[in-house]
Amino acid sequence: MSERMSVGVLFVCLGNICRSPTAHGVFAHHVAQRRLDQLIRVDSAGTGDWHIGHAPDKRTTVAALQRGYDLSALRARQVTREDFSRFDYILAMDAENLRNLQAMRPADYRGELKLFLDYADSVQHREVPDPYYGGADDFALVVDLVENAALRLLDHLVAHHRLR
Ligand code: 4NP
Repeated sequence: MSERMSVGVLFVCLGNICRSPTAHGVFAHHVAQRRLDQLIRVDSAGTGDWHIGHAPDKRTTVAALQRGYDLSALRARQVTREDFSRFDYILAMDAENLRNLQAMRPADYRGELKLFLDYADSVQHREVPDPYYGGADDFALVVDLVENAALRLLDHLVAHHRLR
């Protein structure tokens, strides 16, 4: 199916080496498992440029793999204004990422620009906390929060866009 007919989802954090690659890998895994990969496009990017071309952070890779998600093919890139013409959902990991995206948002963007955890069950967490200066527990929390929100987002897309 062409890009225009599929639903595009872009996950965005600061570096694109911890949180948004986790969201990218976890969400893509469940999209594939439900055989929706022809209908839903998935990507991730960072608002910053420090890690362009880098693989996900080793601690992120380990935390994801412990839960059955392989992030090894992912490479960091920076978000661009063109992303607003390619993605119907642009989902920020935290409020700062969202503010930076809102500042880039073209006036005619008709997609959803919001916090990823708006789709989650959790009322305790509205943002995915930056684990970069944290420990293993912080990286595990990222997987927990992302996995729940990814499953709820997938349910939403299936229902809202009538994907079967
Ligand atoms: P991310 O985590 O935004 O979840 O990829 C970070 C990665 C790198 C840096 C900060 C956060 N950094 O300062 O380089």
